[in-house]
Amino acid sequence: MTRTLILPMLMVAACTDKDPEPVVYELTGDELHDPENCIECHPAHVEEWSGSMHAYATEDPVFQAMNARGQRETNGELGDFCVNCHAPMAVREGYTQDGTNLDEIPSHLRGVGCGFCHLVDGVDDDHNAELSLATDEVMRGPYTDPTENTAHASAWSPLQDRTQLESADACGTCHDIITPAGVHLERTYLEWRDSQYSVPEAGLQQTCGNCHMDGRDDVAAEYDGVPLRRVHGHAMPGVDVALTPWPQADEQLAAVQSALDSTVLVQLEVYDAGVGMGVIVFLDNVSAGHGFPSGAAHDRRAWLELVGYDEAGEVIWSSGLVGEDEKLRDYVAEDPQLWWFGDRTYDSAGEEAHMFWEVASVESQPLPAPSRYDPGTEGWVDSHQSRTFTMTGAFPARISARIRIRPVGLDVLEDLVESGDLDPSVVESMPTFTLAASETEWVADSDE
Ligand code: HEC
Ligand code: HEC
Ligand code: HEC
Ligand code: HEC
Ligand code: HEC
Repeated sequence: MTRTLILPMLMVAACTDKDPEPVVYELTGDELHDPENCIECHPAHVEEWSGSMHAYATEDPVFQAMNARGQRETNGELGDFCVNCHAPMAVREGYTQDGTNLDEIPSHLRGVGCGFCHLVDGVDDDHNAELSLATDEVMRGPYTDPTENTAHASAWSPLQDRTQLESADACGTCHDIITPAGVHLERTYLEWRDSQYSVPEAGLQQTCGNCHMDGRDDVAAEYDGVPLRRVHGHAMPGVDVALTPWPQADEQLAAVQSALDSTVLVQLEVYDAGVGMGVIVFLDNVSAGHGFPSGAAHDRRAWLELVGYDEAGEVIWSSGLVGEDEKLRDYVAEDPQLWWFGDRTYDSAGEEAHMFWEVASVESQPLPAPSRYDPGTEGWVDSHQSRTFTMTGAFPARISARIRIRPVGLDVLEDLVESGDLDPSVVESMPTFTLAASETEWVADSDE
């Protein structure tokens, strides 16, 4: 195997008359994939990443359960489809072909690690983790003038610089899934690409990293001679949280809550006309750079809760009033006005199905990204959504509304418990979030 050695510019310039001594860096090959080797100089990055879903991706008990069941039910046909995203280096280094031996994967190759993201030097397709990795052992990052260090060579790359659109392609190829049956099941990248955020001309460019990697002024490495810079959070919160004991679990829960809090705005218009009474609800996805929810939208359970109270504060009418331990799915039949967001997935017989390998078609109904491009009309469509709810009984004195989300439906989890693939304790650790900015109230005018 030949290794390209990196010659820092200054050293090349200093030795003009004879061949420069090649610089030998301390970290080579597999060592670049072990976060333990980064702690000394990048302690903050390692700590944040350790509490992220990227670090948890192989550990995730729901992932392990679904993959195990998928391998069993397809007689192994799933192959490395799942682990190729959830443990990409372990697949590349030959430790697993199907994720049924996850315990044997060395701990530093579990999940999506530092070395994987920082060696990406090509995006070969827009879905299913089609990334190529460099073999030159150069850590790619956002700085054009990285401080020379003894551990590794560094270089700027648009794929690891959040100010560049290309960086979204690198995240996006893992955040967009087409199943072996050809179903475009997860579409976060596609949704982002169709949104205003991917169009520089719209003046609103925001890549995945812009929203998911908070910036702060700090040193990027604990190392002599480094300048103060803009460095970026590696916890990358979204919706999912660790469901088993995991580092920084409380911080992760808080970060997810905060990402969700500002996502959806709700407005209510209540009417009591001759035709009947009701409430018109207007929803706006204002801060997700893709649909709400996105990604595993077939497993997410997100819905509008609308409750009417009488003067005494008793509930007289409701939709989506789902209790903490209750399944949203149980309300779909009995609450015909229920407004929930996400995907419905069906098998080839047209029956509702939710395991990746059974899905033959998807019906998608997220709250779309703020402004999306419609190839049909070649225009921008704003994302406002509205729906009218009819009310029966007495006219309420007060109506409250809020949006709630459960990262993975209790019905999905219980299904995995029943098949013997998931520990029942995981079901209890699934949180239900309420989006703060969505909490809205309408109070009847006392003069009316
Ligand atoms: C001996 C200290 C040291 C160790 C160990 C170390 N780094 Fe670095 N790293 C640095 C320094 C110094 C910089 C440059 C920081 C600057 O200029 O602000 C840097 C920069 C980087 C950059 C940014 C490069 C750029 O051009 O934007 C990345 C990415 C990176 N390191 C990843 C890693 C990873 C991953 C590991 C562990 C496998 C690691 N580093 C281990 C010292 C170290
Ligand atoms: C999912 C991909 C991903 C993983 C995993 C990841 N990084 Fe990064 N990292 C990035 C991106 C993207 C940037 C560029 C952010 C920007 O635009 O400044 C970055 C930036 C950096 C930088 C430059 C300073 C900064 O904060 O911008 C360092 C150093 C770094 N990462 C180290 C690490 C280490 C150490 C790990 C593992 C503990 C790690 N990264 C894991 C994607 C990743
Ligand atoms: C190798 C594929 C891969 C790459 C590259 C990648 N991710 Fe991820 N990402 C994952 C996987 C797998 C998970 C989920 C792990 C789990 O939930 O079990 C994840 C989780 C996340 C989450 C949390 C999702 C949730 O549901 O809450 C966010 C946010 C995220 N990634 C953002 C990014 C960003 C931003 C980048 C680019 C800088 C990136 N990812 C690059 C594979 C990848
Ligand atoms: C304008 C800001 C913004 C941009 C750009 C953005 N996101 Fe997000 N993302 C959010 C917010 C806010 C949430 C939490 C609300 C939600 O779940 O949609 C989120 C949630 C997520 C989730 C959790 C899934 C879920 O159900 O919503 C994933 C995965 C994710 N983002 C990945 C990405 C990737 C990959 C990109 C780039 C292709 C990206 N995001 C671009 C703001 C953004
Ligand atoms: C192309 C990359 C990719 C592939 C292939 C993939 N995943 Fe994921 N997975 C992700 C990403 C990215 C997330 C993060 C959250 C999101 O987008 O929903 C995730 C999240 C998850 C989650 C947590 C959220 C949820 O839905 O419960 C589970 C479980 C999961 N994946 C299981 C699987 C299984 C099982 C397979 C194979 C049948 C698989 N994944 C294949 C990228 C992938």
